[in-house]
Amino acid sequence: MSKIKALVTGGAGFLGSHLCEYLLNKDWEVVCIDNLSSGTLNALENVIDNSSFHFEEMDIFDLNPETSFLDDINYVFHLAGIESEQSSILSPTEYFKINVLGTVKVLEATKSQNLKKFLYAASSTCYGVPRVPTLESDSLVPISPSALSKIQGEQAVFHWSHIYGVESCSLRIFDAYGPRCYSKNSFNNLFGIWMKQKILDQSFTMPGDGEIKRDFVYCEDVCQAFYLAALEGKNTESYNVGSGKPRTLNELMNLLKGKPNYLNNISKAFYHTWADLSKIQYDTNWAPRFSLEKGVEFSLRHLDSWENAPLWTEDRITEFLNR
Ligand SMILES: NC(=O)c1ccc[n+]([C@@H]2O[C@H](COP(=O)([O-])OP(=O)(O)OC[C@H]3O[C@@H](n4cnc5c(N)ncnc54)[C@H](O)[C@@H]3O)[C@@H](O)[C@H]2O)c1
Repeated sequence: MSKIKALVTGGAGFLGSHLCEYLLNKDWEVVCIDNLSSGTLNALENVIDNSSFHFEEMDIFDLNPETSFLDDINYVFHLAGIESEQSSILSPTEYFKINVLGTVKVLEATKSQNLKKFLYAASSTCYGVPRVPTLESDSLVPISPSALSKIQGEQAVFHWSHIYGVESCSLRIFDAYGPRCYSKNSFNNLFGIWMKQKILDQSFTMPGDGEIKRDFVYCEDVCQAFYLAALEGKNTESYNVGSGKPRTLNELMNLLKGKPNYLNNISKAFYHTWADLSKIQYDTNWAPRFSLEKGVEFSLRHLDSWENAPLWTEDRITEFLNR
């Protein structure tokens, strides 16, 4: 019997590379495309020799219905995208191009493949500064071009379901963390920034007094949510993917055994997040399995992999936020 075949876009990135691994472990065949703009081949070192894995260095804009490796794809996991609230305010066009038009390109290239489902990596930034705990039915109040473009990507996916009959689900991911999460081009992932600071034995750049609570979700839990949404998710539904248990930045820092450098000038970029998970739990039976303690412990085993990650110093962060 032939294997279930998936396309993962953005598969050389943080979440995409974990998803490739997860699906291969489920005995699926995986085709991964990535233009390596922020992803790396190193991220794929655990899977690159797997005979059920195929990598193409390719931009999503070069996909079309004739692309040979798209034949017989059963599921598309569209993770290629860019996200940074601050950077997008300076260059909004790039965000709409990649996150909206890029999504349409992937939809167009795959819509005639008899897909079982198209899965979209959406973002909790869609809710803006949210009411917590946040439900999927809460208002979408994007506060940056990045957030708006991710919403419009989600809307395009659902629109294609209505017009062309491609089934779809959208996962609104909260603060994902774990091995290989780096903050490269923008100041947008505290966990990755702190892991690099930890390697260098520097204090952690801490927004405000560190008492903001964020909903951190471990990468493997995100992968399982994608997998279960593919099999069980309802058509054109969006699902929150978080831990459902927000923790303060100070708590995360303590688990990482870091020392704080409290910075009031960067606190405005952070607000409380807390995912209500009832909908995805009801529809797909998914529940996060990793406590923050366990996820941090697993990540610390890979601390060396942050060796080459960029360092965000207090000066660099301040300069970035004041551009
Ligand atoms: N990590 C999180 O906490 C989080 C939260 C919410 C949403 N998301 C969404 O999940 C997805 C994956 O996030 P991530 O954290 O793994 O980011 P990432 O930057 O590590 O991965 C994105 C990948 O997409 C690739 N890419 C970008 N533009 C491309 C293009 N035009 N063609 C082909 N490949 C392209 C990049 O090279 C990269 O490997 C993104 O769409 C992001 O918006 C992530």
